Amino acid sequence: MIELNKDLQKKHHHRKWLPKYITESGILIETGTHTGEGVEAGLAFGYKKVISIESNEKFYTEAKMRFYEEIGCGKVELHLGESGKLLPIILSGLHGKRLTFFIDAHIGGARSPILEELDAIKGHSSKDHIIMIDDYSDYVNKYYRISIRQVIEKLYELNSDYKFGFEETSKGLNVMIAIV
Ligand SMILES: C[S@@+](CC[C@H](N)C(=O)[O-])C[C@H]1O[C@@H](n2cnc3c(N)ncnc32)[C@H](O)[C@@H]1O
Repeated sequence: MIELNKDLQKKHHHRKWLPKYITESGILIETGTHTGEGVEAGLAFGYKKVISIESNEKFYTEAKMRFYEEIGCGKVELHLGESGKLLPIILSGLHGKRLTFFIDAHIGGARSPILEELDAIKGHSSKDHIIMIDDYSDYVNKYYRISIRQVIEKLYELNSDYKFGFEETSKGLNVMIAIV
């Protein structure tokens, strides 16, 4: 069982800034589960619950085994499917809650569903979510053929009061944080 755990915090030291962005709900929503490192880091740094979406069935199935206990006690919820399609359904069950998002679903070189994901977040009743966007530089370089300008314009559609900050990962200052 993963709990606030010094060894795991050490393992995920490149995400040591995660606790700063825990909201009153304590819920972290991640797009792109992959092997589950983000889920583990979220729990290790104090999120009460991590909800994660993965489109690749192999990764989803492996993560379900990895977090078997946490799923059983409601600390982890995993979903198989496209984040842009599933987010509206998941968010409809979280009415009125302020959430933290970790936007990290992409397939190397191919595409990022970020604009659909932000549209889904825009449809939620709360307008003050904390939105963390991983791989910021890929939007600056238009790696996914989506520019950082498009991302910021979409965030301003959600709430024109968003302010932006950055956090460091193993790849440098590469997580953009939108916060109200
Ligand atoms: C960079 S990895 C995620 C890493 C993970 N968040 C972490 O912190 O360790 C990106 C993942 O997004 C998944 N993915 C790509 N497109 C997706 C989509 N539309 N919906 C959900 N997952 C998607 C990929 O299969 C891949 O496992």
